[in-house]
Amino acid sequence: MQHIKVVSTGAVGAMISGVDLAQIDDRALTELRLAFADHSVLFFRDQELTPKQHIALAKKWGTININRFFAEVSDYPEIAEVRKEAGQKINIGGGWHTDHSYDQIPALGSMLYAREVPPSGGDTLYASTCAAFDSLSRGLQKTLLGLRAVHSSRHVFGADTQRPDELEGRFGNAELATQDAVHPAVITHPLSGRKSLYVNPGFTLHFEGWTEAESAPLLQYLYQHIAQPEHTYRFQWQPGSLAFWDNRATWHFAVNDYHGHRRLMHRITIEGEAVAA
Ligand code: SIN
Repeated sequence: MQHIKVVSTGAVGAMISGVDLAQIDDRALTELRLAFADHSVLFFRDQELTPKQHIALAKKWGTININRFFAEVSDYPEIAEVRKEAGQKINIGGGWHTDHSYDQIPALGSMLYAREVPPSGGDTLYASTCAAFDSLSRGLQKTLLGLRAVHSSRHVFGADTQRPDELEGRFGNAELATQDAVHPAVITHPLSGRKSLYVNPGFTLHFEGWTEAESAPLLQYLYQHIAQPEHTYRFQWQPGSLAFWDNRATWHFAVNDYHGHRRLMHRITIEGEAVAA
């Protein structure tokens, strides 16, 4: 039997020990589900996972979402490759965002597994959008509860997006970037019941019924509010680390400070459910 230890990493996340993710039993899975609902990101160290074991782990959580835009790991379409080579300058995910808010039914989250990491740097920051909602004034909370926001994939992954040559081979299927979705600006988290600010610097265009110019000041205010240190945690990767985050309760930011070194991560994304106010 596995004896799982859960240590909170602050406003967002928990470090999990005492579990071998390659052979997880039902009791461990139940405990991890509870910890995931409570902490929104689970961090694991020293895991030895083959691609098949990574896929089997993700399937215990739900249906795998095959990413339309990321390069896939050869022979494993379920696994997206998040890679930056020593000679490249641009990384994937190098700005605050949450994934898939442009989908009508956004993905639940991703399991990111570190295969090769630089000698230093290449950390990932996480922010709690639930803690960020809680720390707003009652007045602004009330206003936001009445708003919906429009999200799109077009300006990021679409055919009209100017993409540096360096990203060639790391993204694809620009013609499939046609998703637009409208979601409440504050959702009730399906697992924890907490309110979560559901706006996204990567993919939110504007509030429904507002122009982009009208929306920008409030969105910018919320973006800097969510990213405040007291809502965040910075995870330092080692080979064999795995982070499993919830897109409906967090943002993430892959820090691009390791030029001259390779970083190779395998990411599996799991389907979610419709988000609601
Ligand atoms: C991502 O945005 O999915 C990439 C995160 C990372 O590489 O740390």
